[in-house]
Amino acid sequence: MKIIMLGAPGAGKGTQAKKIAAKYEIPHISTGDIFRANIKNGTELGKKAKTYMDQGLLVPDELVVDLVVDRLNQDDCKKGFVLDGFPRTIPQAEALTEALQSLGQSMDFAIDVNVPDQNIINRMSGRRACVGCGATYHIVYAPTKTEGICDHCGGELILRDDDKPETVENRLKVYHEQTQPLIDYYTKAGILHTVDGTVDIEDVFKAVTDILGA
Ligand code: AP5
Ligand code: MG
Repeated sequence: MKIIMLGAPGAGKGTQAKKIAAKYEIPHISTGDIFRANIKNGTELGKKAKTYMDQGLLVPDELVVDLVVDRLNQDDCKKGFVLDGFPRTIPQAEALTEALQSLGQSMDFAIDVNVPDQNIINRMSGRRACVGCGATYHIVYAPTKTEGICDHCGGELILRDDDKPETVENRLKVYHEQTQPLIDYYTKAGILHTVDGTVDIEDVFKAVTDILGA
């Protein structure tokens, strides 16, 4: 099963992608997580990506596409995968289509998690991420058992650098200009499904699994 999660920053792509990956036993591939891991490890890629991410801008396509295509060629992707945060531009979508075509494959589902802009800013200011394992929480909607401490690894929770309100506004603008056109792209490809991302996390997941099948 090959799935793309679409949606604005903070729509819940990562939250749902993790649940999909666990239920269907396929890898969760988040380009944002890959960049954040590179930043943490001080790699050249991380240094380049950080200058864009901190401003709420997209990392240039040429730094993203090969990275994802290489990842999709790994063995664990043979039975499928869930992409979270990629593709984000039409050239990225075209590169993905071509890479899969060369293997005689195509994507099965593109799921748009739909959340209006007004809800997003509120969500982002409450999001907390673990510095240790990257798990994501929300101070109101998905709290940890102990405040400020990760349930999984006991790591410290932080507000992501790009979750400041002024950066979130920029990310939303970039989303509408560069990523929203993918909704049309995947509608034309006949694989687009939309779920309401404003309801509870479990209710969003129910809508997702109704689309994907048991
Ligand atoms: P990335 O990490 O992908 O960020 P994003 O798209 O902005 O999305 P987020 O991770 O912020 O949100 P999400 O939709 O995953 O929501 P989440 O599940 O966490 O990318 C970061 C940056 O990297 C980009 O800005 C760009 O610079 C760069 N980048 C990455 N990929 C790239 C690419 N392909 N090309 C170019 N550049 C790229 O949920 C958000 C919060 O809401 C959480 O606190 C969660 O607990 C809560 N929540 C989730 N669902 C619900 C719900 N149903 N009800 C209430 N709360 C909820
Ligand atoms: Mg995410």
